[in-house]
Amino acid sequence: MSSSRSTMVIAHVFRGTFVHSTQSSALDVLDDTLLGVDTLGKIAFIGRGTDVDRLCEKYGFHVRDVTQLRQHEFFMPGMVDTHIHASQYSYAGTALDLPLLQWLNTYTFPVEARYKDLEFARKVYTQVVRRTLRNGTTTASYFATIHTDASLLLGQIANEFGQRALVGKVCMDRNDAVKHYKETPEESLDETNRFIRELLENKYPLVMPVVTPRFAPSCSPALLSHLGEIAQNNHLHIQSHISETKEEVQMVKELFPDSESYTDVYLKHNLLTDKTVMAHGCHLSDEELKLFRETGASIAHCPNSNISLCSGFLDVRNVLNRKVKLGLGTDVAGGYSPSMLDAVRKTLDTSKALTIKDSEHQTLSFQEVFRLATLGGSQALSMDEHTGNFEVGKDFDALRVNLAAEEGPVDIFQREEPLVLLEKFLNLGDDRNIAEVYVAGRRVVPFPG
Ligand code: GUN
Ligand code: FE
Repeated sequence: MSSSRSTMVIAHVFRGTFVHSTQSSALDVLDDTLLGVDTLGKIAFIGRGTDVDRLCEKYGFHVRDVTQLRQHEFFMPGMVDTHIHASQYSYAGTALDLPLLQWLNTYTFPVEARYKDLEFARKVYTQVVRRTLRNGTTTASYFATIHTDASLLLGQIANEFGQRALVGKVCMDRNDAVKHYKETPEESLDETNRFIRELLENKYPLVMPVVTPRFAPSCSPALLSHLGEIAQNNHLHIQSHISETKEEVQMVKELFPDSESYTDVYLKHNLLTDKTVMAHGCHLSDEELKLFRETGASIAHCPNSNISLCSGFLDVRNVLNRKVKLGLGTDVAGGYSPSMLDAVRKTLDTSKALTIKDSEHQTLSFQEVFRLATLGGSQALSMDEHTGNFEVGKDFDALRVNLAAEEGPVDIFQREEPLVLLEKFLNLGDDRNIAEVYVAGRRVVPFPG
């Protein structure tokens, strides 16, 4: 065993229970563990609590600087919302009485059109970043609107609050319902290029642009092709929607008669890559899932939205069996809750509903869904090199969970095992149980001052 001193500088050391997922295990419980975070926000070491003296010596920190977790507390990785419309947060919790296409025309497009107004944008974007962060979303993949300046503002706000984010200026050059809420193809490309350039120029460490065609029905083939090129030339992420409802699938068939499937539309326009995340996929065929597997594209499962808009049920077990990457999304405001804990619950509920319909269906376990909300999401966004679990060298993106929070929603009757604490948190907990949130080693919740 080497006793040589490390030259890295340690910013925080925590001692207590850590729970996380790995490639081989949906849930790993690390009892009495010591975890050190360096000044760059990366996990510097993970060791045994009983090794504290040796680790102090090696990494140059003092025992009195170790933060000891209390009983009923644990750390888990921050949650990854792989699909959320920041611009729709203003009406989250309402307007859930229409199917997707009517819902878009009636509620969504008129609201999104308002983001020309930067003061309105600032208000809603500040609230959505605060609300999601405090509910444990350390990474979010956001849809904004077609407005470049408001989308840049969302990036600025995420950066100021310290959330890791992909931010997408929405692209759409087809909209028959709300005629003023669309772009010409030239505008869409020019503004996308400006959005990417200006966002990157800001050099926000945790905020990146994502190429965002709204979905095939609102984009011309020419626009889709150009967006595919922009993503390829700049090595950028791509996000969109796919096969959310049967009516939408039929519409795509009619609009793109030369394509073999909805997935084929995106494939033909170079929009299916290993940095692509497509929301929903409720009605994808197994052949289409094969194209996801082959390209490395992923699915954002948004069960609240799928139920709220009566879109369909995604069979997550089938997607996982076919080795397609999958994360969870809130899909605010099609999904009414901005909390990833709700996405966890609705994922379990949907899986159980599939088991009710077919007793052969292999229900997801809470441990598996925990992995989807954390490591799975980071893989779906191709960010698992940096986040998703507790591994030395990754950024420290973490939630300090306190199940016994005063005035909290969970009652505890005796000293409980970490597994019980985690299951109760996932099923019964809320933001009152999230004592602290860290992103890249920086404590971002409670909010400063
Ligand atoms: N498909 C295209 N746009 C949207 C949207 O804003 N929300 C949902 N749920 N589906 C979409
Ligand atoms: Fe969506």
